[in-house]
Amino acid sequence: MHGRRLILAGSIAVLTLAASGPLRAADGAKLYEGHCVACHQPDGNGAEGLAPPLAGVLAKRAQSASGREYLAQVLVSGMIGTITSRGVKYNGNMPAAPLSDEELAAVMGHVLATFNNVSQPLPVELFSAARSKALTPSAVRQLRERVLAEVGE
Ligand code: HEC
Repeated sequence: MHGRRLILAGSIAVLTLAASGPLRAADGAKLYEGHCVACHQPDGNGAEGLAPPLAGVLAKRAQSASGREYLAQVLVSGMIGTITSRGVKYNGNMPAAPLSDEELAAVMGHVLATFNNVSQPLPVELFSAARSKALTPSAVRQLRERVLAEVGE
């Protein structure tokens, strides 16, 4: 009897694990569809005059501590002012994303995995930390400049 209950508890745990994996991955994609795609486009290549690409430009930033902080701040605080990406100038306004820290981690994980070949997602704590010291949108743009100089882009 006792043994059977243990087996039951064990299979529930396995089922829960099996369900939460794909569900979380799907969340990031769904959040991207709902909150980012209109500006950054389905292929993550952005659109001139609207929003810069997210595809193929974020891997180096995800590998440096200040780059990860920048990626979290862009989502938490937004960004404003002229930037250059892949040789094209954008002068737009990235709105702070109206999402929880968990959702931000999921959507950025999706952007990194799908468009930048980075399989390691950014931790939820990074977004909580960014929120506790949120920047102005123009300070985020200055942070971007410093990060790009640091990673040599
Ligand atoms: C209303 C349009 C809009 C939406 C919606 C939007 N963005 Fe942006 N995003 C921008 C613009 C415009 C910029 C560049 C801002 C600037 O020129 O200073 C930007 C910049 C970025 C950057 C920095 C890119 C770089 O080269 O450093 C990231 C990362 C980013 N957005 C991710 C996202 C994600 C993820 C979402 C969805 C949660 C999202 N954005 C939603 C317009 C948008």
